[in-house]
Amino acid sequence: MVQIRFLGHAAFEVAGSKKILIDPFLTGNPQAAAKPEELNADLILVTHAHGDHIGDAVEIARRTGAKIVAMFDVANYLVENSEGITTIGMNYGPTEIDGVRIVQVPAWHSSSDGKYSIGNASGYIVKLDGKTIYHAGDTFVFSDMALFRELYGPIDVALLPIGGHFTMGPREAAKAVELLKPGKVVPMHYNTWPPISADPEEFRRLVGDGAEVYILKPGEVLEL
Ligand code: NI
Ligand code: MN
Repeated sequence: MVQIRFLGHAAFEVAGSKKILIDPFLTGNPQAAAKPEELNADLILVTHAHGDHIGDAVEIARRTGAKIVAMFDVANYLVENSEGITTIGMNYGPTEIDGVRIVQVPAWHSSSDGKYSIGNASGYIVKLDGKTIYHAGDTFVFSDMALFRELYGPIDVALLPIGGHFTMGPREAAKAVELLKPGKVVPMHYNTWPPISADPEEFRRLVGDGAEVYILKPGEVLEL
């Protein structure tokens, strides 16, 4: 069984034979469902360099020995600015790390420290214990999402931003569901702050029969 715990905003813990954190932004996250010191991980996946995605990755990696997986340029940026962490820099494509199949996939978004560009934005497709999980990162919808399903599907669960302003809103995310055809979908990256207000029930209505929509409150777990 794989358990997906929503930690608030775009942060998730994927727990099976390995424990994987994705975008562990907790300190300063008004939705945070855990403190960084409460979390353990084997791998920490970072989708891009914005602070609400790198979050507490460095602190957790330093304490637990978890490896940080990120785009090559983001990984180098983290190593240059932090002691005592191990990173694995990659780029769009498939790899296997400690027995976990990971595909870094494109995302239409920026990636920077707030000023200077650092690599490109990404999402991840993770295959763990026979389950396939897609974390879209921050992105707009794009038709190549259909390729993700064709190449790596069926996708058991898609974690999709719906907050608008910086990413897809409910309408765009519902189109993403059409392209990805996941069994389950969890909305994320909404209602953390006023600019990304969105109604997850509107998203559920727009998805209709396209997938099972699980609206997780921070701290809730979806079992696959
Ligand atoms: Ni971002
Ligand atoms: Mn973001």
